[in-house]
Amino acid sequence: MKLTVVGGGSTYTPELIDGIAGRRVGLAVDEVVLVDPDVGRLEVVGAFSRRLLAHAGHPARVTTTTDLERGADGASAVLLQLRVGGQAARASDETFPLVCDCVGQETTGAGGLAKALRTVPVVLDIADRVRRVAGDDAWIVDFTNPVGIVTRALLQAGHRAVGLCNVAITFQRWTAGLLGVPPDSVRLGHVGLNHLSWETGVFVDGVDRLPELLADHADALGGHVGLPGSLVRRLGAVPSYYLKYFYEHDEVVRRQHVEPPRAEVVAGVEEELLGVYADPAVVTKPEQLSRRGGAYYSEAAVRLVHALTGGGGAERHVVNVRNGGALPFLPDDAVVEVPAAVDGGGAAPLPVPPVPPAFAGLIAHVTAYEQLALDAALNGGRNRVADALLAHPLVGQHAVADRLADELVARNADFLPWA
Ligand code: G6P
Ligand code: MN
Repeated sequence: MKLTVVGGGSTYTPELIDGIAGRRVGLAVDEVVLVDPDVGRLEVVGAFSRRLLAHAGHPARVTTTTDLERGADGASAVLLQLRVGGQAARASDETFPLVCDCVGQETTGAGGLAKALRTVPVVLDIADRVRRVAGDDAWIVDFTNPVGIVTRALLQAGHRAVGLCNVAITFQRWTAGLLGVPPDSVRLGHVGLNHLSWETGVFVDGVDRLPELLADHADALGGHVGLPGSLVRRLGAVPSYYLKYFYEHDEVVRRQHVEPPRAEVVAGVEEELLGVYADPAVVTKPEQLSRRGGAYYSEAAVRLVHALTGGGGAERHVVNVRNGGALPFLPDDAVVEVPAAVDGGGAAPLPVPPVPPAFAGLIAHVTAYEQLALDAALNGGRNRVADALLAHPLVGQHAVADRLADELVARNADFLPWA
């Protein structure tokens, strides 16, 4: 099977290659193609990927190209992991909302909207071109943020696509450790949207261990997601790390005013990683990769691709899929992040227990924002940007929405053909 990685020059690529090299699910990959416009990165990451596979005794070939059509020709699955504008654009997303004391974050709030506006048109163009050479059966697996909005754009355009994030698998791995059980024996009740989710159950052998975890380990659970243990216990569910930007918004903003943006930290880590990747003596995944947020990304991706390419029976994966009634309070064409049954035919959401109002309200609110954000990304226009911001629970006031819309458009003009 041929697997194509768009954005293959990313410092995350060795994480994915490591997952393939481990052959943990017997994924029958014989060629991995890394596609990226950055030739320098392609060379370094490509050569290191070859060493990783060779060291693990994995027979797959790694090829590199700047030509998307060549790279995707005949691929069974195409993974999208690109970042339009690189870390510089991310730094802008993480700082401009602060002029209004709104959180500066790459996927949440006004920064996330800026990223969506830059990214959706690029991803749709890539998906169309991929489709022409890889055919209608090829799967598009999207890790490109904001995953919810990008996946919705892909599905709306008729693509065979699934969105993936590592939040659920990271929590699964972590709670398995806490409970002392094998990771795969843990089934999460996971509900919400991408980067707006709650773990509502932790099932081991059919028994929900979450009440016990909340009673005995609330502080550890809170620590894992950066929120007080007492809050997590009261919610009766474990919010993802991204809920901190809602539940602790003003406190986060206070810190962001004085701390360097994450983009700067990541730029430093990336420089170091590229140096390590370039060292011919290094043949295994370096420790420095764990300083990025992508833990278990390789596991989740490799398993998902395995399931989508018909590698087994129906498997359960937490993915971003068309709602289709799974959350009855949302439109059918919203994209939700829930456990789904995945096989060669695609991902179908499994039934979701009723969602408590404290979560359902926020989920519905952000879903409405995502719909308006996608409208702005597809159709452009400063007022569509302002309308999306007005609908976002972390913005919500017209003067703030207007100021942030102008700021966003001015800073991203190079990426927005209509601006
Ligand atoms: C987690 C999220 C990803 C996000 C990443 C950021 O893995 O699920 O969607 O891209 O964190 O990590 P970084 O190291 O770039 O801050
Ligand atoms: Mn994510």
